[in-house]
Amino acid sequence: MRGRRGPFITLEGGEGSGKSVQVEALGQLLAEAGQPALLTREPAGTDLGRFLWSLFQSGEGREPIAMTPVAELFLFEAARAQHVEDAVRPALEEGRVVLCERFTDSTLAYQGYGRGLSLDYIRAANHMASGGLAPDLTLLLDVPPEVGLSRAGNRSGGRDDRIGQEDAEFHSRVREGFLALARREPERFFVVDATKPADEVTQRCWEQVRRLLDRL
Ligand code: TMP
Repeated sequence: MRGRRGPFITLEGGEGSGKSVQVEALGQLLAEAGQPALLTREPAGTDLGRFLWSLFQSGEGREPIAMTPVAELFLFEAARAQHVEDAVRPALEEGRVVLCERFTDSTLAYQGYGRGLSLDYIRAANHMASGGLAPDLTLLLDVPPEVGLSRAGNRSGGRDDRIGQEDAEFHSRVREGFLALARREPERFFVVDATKPADEVTQRCWEQVRRLLDRL
């Protein structure tokens, strides 16, 4: 596969699963190995994505904006279309590694399993927004929602967005959704127990990244 685009690696998982910490740690290891990577995220990886994400936030006296599940889906897809075009694809075409926090699987887990939209419908929207781009490896950081939500709450003083404020049942469906996606594509997914210490999680993820780099 040499000579083709760079390796595309995504990190997925619920709130407080430690994705940002792991992206930083893996980015550091890749740089030390002479493969500086693009570290990026959805939905907030572009100016448009940050603006769209601000529509999900209330707080500071701002009323939450009403949004149907379908409207929510298309905001994430709009953020993705811009992000793939402006950031992800150019880096991959230069042959760089891309480490991306959340991608199409988050939409299947949150808007599909969480909100109840049809998975086929979401797959079609994902395909359109990403131009058919699919990750080579997806690291799923799995934590029970009660652990993740308390970590995320401690970090940010409570989430003031329409997803972070959903109840425990929603977040359980999202977790089960991610695990179902992983079972469906075991060659692409690697599931890590993210309740373990961060260093241990990094080691397990790094083994998979190295294996992918050796394979490509
Ligand atoms: P985060 O940057 O803290 O992970 O916040 C992004 C939130 O957006 C998180 O709650 C997951 C949610 N999300 C979706 O619901 N669908 C998506 O397609 C993406 C990319 C994120």
